[in-house]
Amino acid sequence: MKSLVILISGRGSNMQALVEAKLSARIAAIISNRADAEGLEAAKRHGIETRVVNQLSYPRREAFDAALTDAIDAYDPDLIALAGFMRILGEDFVNRYQGKLINVHPSLLPAFPGLNTHRRALQEGVKIHGCTVHFVTAQMDRGPIIIQAAIQVLPDDTEQTLAARVLQEEHRIYPEAVRWFTEGRLRLASTGGIDVGNAGFDGSVLYSPGLCK
Ligand code: GAR
Repeated sequence: MKSLVILISGRGSNMQALVEAKLSARIAAIISNRADAEGLEAAKRHGIETRVVNQLSYPRREAFDAALTDAIDAYDPDLIALAGFMRILGEDFVNRYQGKLINVHPSLLPAFPGLNTHRRALQEGVKIHGCTVHFVTAQMDRGPIIIQAAIQVLPDDTEQTLAARVLQEEHRIYPEAVRWFTEGRLRLASTGGIDVGNAGFDGSVLYSPGLCK
């Protein structure tokens, strides 16, 4: 059975979605870069081992990345899933785990990389927004895309309402991507894209509001 380490920084709802998805994978540990991450309590309630690699103890990025590497390697995981992990990881770290490091991001990448994605989506007036699961590469939020979910932006949406609907979709697609990986159906291809076999795509399409009348 494949094993998984999940990295969090805060609430941990994506981590909980992974835990509750009953994957045929062992969740070896939840690691946080903040001691006060709410998700740590939820992980403990699920009986999962937790670790804190406190970023305040490692002001230099290289030292933090090295401590995080040590913590992760103690579990020798097949996959490392970033779930709301809000710290940029250095190139050496990312290269070390190439092909086994994935992330969920709250936008339809490559649109809106970085922070405040919902606010920026509203400011830009996009009509379709969503979320992306991708392999992590050295270029932030630009790694090969595994799966995306799109939702309509409604005329009266606020940053909060939009974030809530996108989050629901994150909770749907992240476990799906992790399931493909842990079942051996998904991998980073040597060409830099993804190889995904028999993923069960249903071919459904979301049209921009107004186009399908
Ligand atoms: C999620 O929306 C996740 O996509 C986002 O932070 C939130 C964490 O929520 N991650 C990023 O923005 C990473 N760039 P959670 O802690 O409840 O999973």
